[in-house]
Amino acid sequence: MIRSVGHVSAMSPYALAQLKPPQGKSLISLSQNESLRPPSPLAIDAAAKALEAGHLYPDPDWRDLRVALSGLHGIPAEGILCGCGSMELISCLAHAFADEKNAALAPAHAYPFFRTAAKIARARYDVAPEKGGRVSVDALLAAVRDDTRIVFVANPGNPTGTRIARAELVRLREGLPADILLVIDEAYGEFADHLGEPMFDLVGRGDTVVLRTFSKAYGLAGMRVGWGLFPPEIAREVRKVMNPNNITTAGQAAAKAAVTDQVYMRETCRETARLRDGLRQRLQQAGLNVPESFTNFILIRMGSFDAAHDADEALRSEGVVLRPQGGAGLADCLRATIGVTDHIDIAAGLLERWAGKENI
Ligand SMILES: Cc1ncc(COP(=O)(O)O)c(C=O)c1O
Repeated sequence: MIRSVGHVSAMSPYALAQLKPPQGKSLISLSQNESLRPPSPLAIDAAAKALEAGHLYPDPDWRDLRVALSGLHGIPAEGILCGCGSMELISCLAHAFADEKNAALAPAHAYPFFRTAAKIARARYDVAPEKGGRVSVDALLAAVRDDTRIVFVANPGNPTGTRIARAELVRLREGLPADILLVIDEAYGEFADHLGEPMFDLVGRGDTVVLRTFSKAYGLAGMRVGWGLFPPEIAREVRKVMNPNNITTAGQAAAKAAVTDQVYMRETCRETARLRDGLRQRLQQAGLNVPESFTNFILIRMGSFDAAHDADEALRSEGVVLRPQGGAGLADCLRATIGVTDHIDIAAGLLERWAGKENI
């Protein structure tokens, strides 16, 4: 029998959403934090046009996209790396900076792929407790050990939806030893940019990376384009472990065009926030516990694993798929992505019905 290496055979496969609707029902997926709108028409046109050069390999240096991002955010194009989704960048950071002799650290209810990336790199994965659904900088600093090499935090967080204030992130960075890489994952950053600036200024210190993605606010999840601002020495090492030619020509073209359509992206964020806050209010009125979210999803705290499982099954039986959060250490919670109005209405109605039965 052919066996995989030890640390791989010990791993569980990454848990993706289960998207099979029951027979006779159509699927309403509110499970993957995708955008409620298709990409900007400019991005669709650019991707279609890019197919004409589909017989050629893509630009391995993502030049046009980097220039567009540099202009938008006022950051140096040389510091930008683009990945096949920000997942590729997270994975490469773990590969380049952690191994079996050391550890990655993250908040207890962090994005589960941080753990997967650390495990693929054979590193130990440590977690620090959160307080009231929020990242605790004190707990993270207290959890640092001599062999900690990377600290991952997502801001805003997935699946918690909560936000870490800029001053707290600066305090985290300043409290961490200089030989620990801090990775600030701002996959949902565009939904909260009006509340504070991105953390790109920390990258100049040489010990911090800030990641973003086109998968959420820009609605390009299927194009797989993530990016980040990296200190030069970190970027050099990450590039060694990245797949060359990682982003398709169409993906690069779509992302570049999406950057030029900020109006469209901002509209998506506004509409998402409107529906999100409306859904939260509706579910709260039905007696459910829904913390404030700064993202394109809400976390619903069902009170127990059994309640979360039961509600998930009740919605699934109608073809509505939310995302259970056991993988993030929140087995009593479901996460609902903000989809189009009709889908949100259907999910809200089913949850109200479920909550009504629970309360009888
Ligand atoms: C916090 C966080 N980081 C990264 C990602 C990965 O995004 P991408 O599609 O860019 O790989 C996600 C996707 O859900 C996420 O929630």
